[in-house]
Amino acid sequence: MFKVGLLGLGTVGTGAVKILQDRLGRNPLLAEIEIAKVGVRDLAKARQVELAAGVLTQDLDSIVADPEICIVVELLGGLEPARSLILEAIAHGKHIVTANKAVIARYGPEIYEAANQAGVYVLLEAAVGGGIPIIKPLKQSLGANRIASIVGIVNGTTNYILTQMTQAGAEFADVLADAQRLGYAEADPGADIDGLDAADKIAILASLGFGGRVKREDVYCEGVRGVSAVDIAYAERLGFTVKLLAIASGQQGDLSESLQLRVHPTLLPKEHPLASINGVNNGILVSGDPLGEVMFSGPGAGAGPTASAVVSDILNIVGILSSSDENPALDPLLSCVHQHYCQITPIEELQTRFYARFLCRDLPGVIGHLGTCFGDHRVSLESIVQIGFQNETAEIVVVTHQVREGNFRAALAEIQKLEGIKAIASVLRVLSSQEV
Ligand code: NAP
Ligand code: HSE
Repeated sequence: MFKVGLLGLGTVGTGAVKILQDRLGRNPLLAEIEIAKVGVRDLAKARQVELAAGVLTQDLDSIVADPEICIVVELLGGLEPARSLILEAIAHGKHIVTANKAVIARYGPEIYEAANQAGVYVLLEAAVGGGIPIIKPLKQSLGANRIASIVGIVNGTTNYILTQMTQAGAEFADVLADAQRLGYAEADPGADIDGLDAADKIAILASLGFGGRVKREDVYCEGVRGVSAVDIAYAERLGFTVKLLAIASGQQGDLSESLQLRVHPTLLPKEHPLASINGVNNGILVSGDPLGEVMFSGPGAGAGPTASAVVSDILNIVGILSSSDENPALDPLLSCVHQHYCQITPIEELQTRFYARFLCRDLPGVIGHLGTCFGDHRVSLESIVQIGFQNETAEIVVVTHQVREGNFRAALAEIQKLEGIKAIASVLRVLSSQEV
């Protein structure tokens, strides 16, 4: 028998226990796995699963140090005590399965160095894309490719919110409460809404796809708080849908070439493959040479899908342990051996298109002044539309051609000072075909 210890019995932990306890019709190796201990914060809390007497404990240290346990499954969330317990478990020679993208995106180098020294695996399929297999494909199935870009909708909560706002005209706060009730949101939903969770995930995917370490703080990150129903409606009229995209693009193999790493709400042409990824679903487009483009999609959060990835990782380790000798060498395609850090291009150097909405006074020449400011900074406009007056305020919506972000920002700084401009209500990027 292979004894596993779970840290956490919340949404994902409960989903994982349900699979481990209901083996009929699933992989026969599940019969070799025993849930030895499960660590939680509150022993008095009602649980949806039954565990043998003595399995549930508040003593998480006793799990990571238990000599009989060979795999520790970290499903606590947050940075601490998750990081320390993972490191402690590795020091005790345990293999790790985790769904914790926040810890891996920040402490991946420390954790993988410790794991490589100890000769144990740290598998994290559930950390990105929920139930979608994306980590193992990047490590193994796509390994022959030179990756050019990874573009994804990787946060289920915000995709659920934006979909409900687009399709049902729902209010942001109501939809967020729904996502929390359904178990999609992080313990601190700010991690979802402010794009931090998506930034953790693209840092992990970029590291795998481009073969280098990524500093989490190098990922440019904007969330969805600034996306209003008005912008979603204008985007629709212009033929776009609004999605929170996580993007990593660059050229693998040339370490002097730097990567672009960013998370931001984006206007996507409605015919783009990611535009139809709705609700809690995630979609990840990987472009590589010679593969071309491949898209992974499916449920990106929630108990069942995430637990599917967690238990599959446990099975992978059990499969290796049951077929190999006493001290097998780590499989380089499953472990992580990157040493150098990827160079990252500053966001000002990004070449992209923009959508901007301005609130204007009823003064002559406002559109002309706007056009002049943009022109002075070499920002070429694809369209400019005045929407009409309401309470002495007109709305002007602008879509640019591909421009350097730094030039666009410099133009906005001048526009903000114009007498005819009351406010810059919103600025969103528009995905252009040259970008990915
Ligand atoms: P959750 O529902 O909040 O569950 C967290 C569990 O950890 C609870 O059982 C809690 O104990 C326990 N716990 C937390 N801090 C603890 C501490 N200091 N000491 C002891 N026990 C502690 O979280 P979740 O949604 O399952 O998420 C778990 C992990 O999976 C996170 O890293 C998350 O980012 C990741 N993830 C989640 C999803 C999803 O859809 N939910 C998808 C992919 C990845 P109590 O039960 O006693 O409170
Ligand atoms: N809160 C995350 C999301 C969970 O909504 O995508 C899945 O990682």
